[in-house]
Amino acid sequence: MYLRKATIDDAMDIHAWRNDPQTRAASFNKEEIDPDSHIKWFRGKLADENCELFILTDGEKKLGHIRVDINDNTGTISYMINPTHRGKGYGTEMIRLLDAAVDKRVSVLSALVEKDNAASQKCFERNGYERREEGDTIRYSKLKAD
Ligand SMILES: CC(C)(COP(=O)(O)OP(=O)(O)OC[C@H]1O[C@@H](n2cnc3c(N)ncnc32)[C@H](O)[C@@H]1OP(=O)(O)O)[C@@H](O)C(=O)NCCC(=O)NCCS
Repeated sequence: MYLRKATIDDAMDIHAWRNDPQTRAASFNKEEIDPDSHIKWFRGKLADENCELFILTDGEKKLGHIRVDINDNTGTISYMINPTHRGKGYGTEMIRLLDAAVDKRVSVLSALVEKDNAASQKCFERNGYERREEGDTIRYSKLKAD
């Protein structure tokens, strides 16, 4: 299993995963996103040198997607697993693989997780991220492994 760079050909899979009810419940913007707005947003992200988009794959199936928005030395993570492949350890594995795949500028990785998203909290805790309450949410962060 490995991370590869996402391309425009992944746009509609990511759109479908993003609109899945469990993903929407876990997102800060819970609205359903229409395909045109998504494509426009996705093209912008692909073109943004401060953003990296990856697909987790076993070489055949697309298992998940992770995005890192880079600001100075900090990479802020957003991620989701393909709804048909959840609960099989892929979320934990995707976070683990990120350290080696992310841009060299990034030395700190960080994510904001909702308090009721137990599965996501475990993905970060299993990978050694520090947990800190931040209002109604939980901030996970760690120094990237060399
Ligand atoms: C959160 C998410 C990425 C987790 O990925 P996953 O592949 O399903 O998670 P894993 O299989 O690696 O499981 C991680 C841990 O959570 C547990 N878990 C899995 N689903 C769970 C659930 N619905 N409720 C509670 N715990 C759960 C697993 O048992 C595992 O615990 P363990 O390490 O003690 O065995 C995935 O469920 C998802 O895409 N959710 C919607 C989008 C989302 O929440 N993104 C993150 C926003 S911060």
